[in-house]
Amino acid sequence: MTRHMTQDELKALVGDAATAWVQPGSVIGVGTGSTVNCFIESLARMPERIAAAVSSSEQSSLRLRKHGIPVLDANEVDALAVYFDGADEIDARGCMIKGGGGALTREKIVADMAARFVCIADASKLVTTLGRFPLPIEVIPMARALVSRRLRELGANPVMRPGFVTDNGGLILDVHGLSIPDPPALEAELSQWPGVVTVGVFARNRASVCLLGTPEGVRTIDF
Ligand code: 5RP
Repeated sequence: MTRHMTQDELKALVGDAATAWVQPGSVIGVGTGSTVNCFIESLARMPERIAAAVSSSEQSSLRLRKHGIPVLDANEVDALAVYFDGADEIDARGCMIKGGGGALTREKIVADMAARFVCIADASKLVTTLGRFPLPIEVIPMARALVSRRLRELGANPVMRPGFVTDNGGLILDVHGLSIPDPPALEAELSQWPGVVTVGVFARNRASVCLLGTPEGVRTIDF
């Protein structure tokens, strides 16, 4: 009989499994969130350490440094072989909604630097169509009302994340009520709106592979 596993246990399971994708001595990209926190704890236990990481948030940088893992500025690194990060939702093509932790801008930058994106997620994140999770959009503060009005014209309901300022000084609009059957098209459209810094649809930078934590073990999905 399959044992019930909590979401936290599934996150720890995939965090650990992801270390098999890490080349000792290499520089890797590291994302943000509770699943990535598990991954960092597993990285710290690897007998042969990585050389350094490029991190997508102050929160992950702190945790990496606490374990003695050097964190490099993205501008000091030309390219990364692999980026590890979680997702709020992932579909059957590897397109994702990200930004639940508000780190989407730096996440997209580090993902873009990497040849491969290894998504680590518990099974609850796999969906047929993106959009049930409110889509995070980082905006420049001056554009908050303009972008919100435009989103409402599309029939969506943007809610400013209260009391939250990103690592880049931006605001987050969490957009409810969007169904996203065509993630590349929505990402391309919203990304051009003045005042939008980053859209939490990751289609251009979709996952290359997903390590999905299920009660039966880690399922590897290649895209
Ligand atoms: C942070 C993110 C995270 O990857 C996403 O929110 C998933 O987080 P968790 O691993 O805590 O479920 O995009 O901006």
